[in-house]
Amino acid sequence: MHHIVVVNGPNLNMLGSREPSIYGAETLEDIHKLCDKTATSHSIKVDFRQSNHEGELVTWIQEAGRAAAGLIINPAGFGHTSVALMDALLSIKIPAIEVHLSNIYKREEFRHHTYTARAVHGVISGFGSHSYVLAIEALSNIFKKNA
Ligand code: DQA
Repeated sequence: MHHIVVVNGPNLNMLGSREPSIYGAETLEDIHKLCDKTATSHSIKVDFRQSNHEGELVTWIQEAGRAAAGLIINPAGFGHTSVALMDALLSIKIPAIEVHLSNIYKREEFRHHTYTARAVHGVISGFGSHSYVLAIEALSNIFKKNA
């Protein structure tokens, strides 16, 4: 069984009450359950985390690089600002996928660029919580290809 880490960045703990017209009504716990269900159907085990602290996210990315088979990251606002998260992602060798609930290209111009995108296998943006499902499926495909 492959083990993956799903890392969520700042303010994603507020999902459900945070700008529901953009991010929907689901809570982070709902997304956690959805990830567990999707992963189980692909024989994958998920370690699901959230932090509002950049350094903690860096540490988790480094740990995932040592201990996990793949990484999914919603860097949230830090994606647009953080060279440190990009560098952490560049330092690991496991496949990493960036996800966003909203379609960042449809929104304000400052959201169109993420540093983190330069350091990941691919980006999935705009499908709400289904972005996470698509990312798990993408990692599952990569694992099968590499088997
Ligand atoms: C987000 C998009 C970011 O621009 C924003 O700062 C977030 C959430 C998303 O999932 O759509 O916090 O990453």
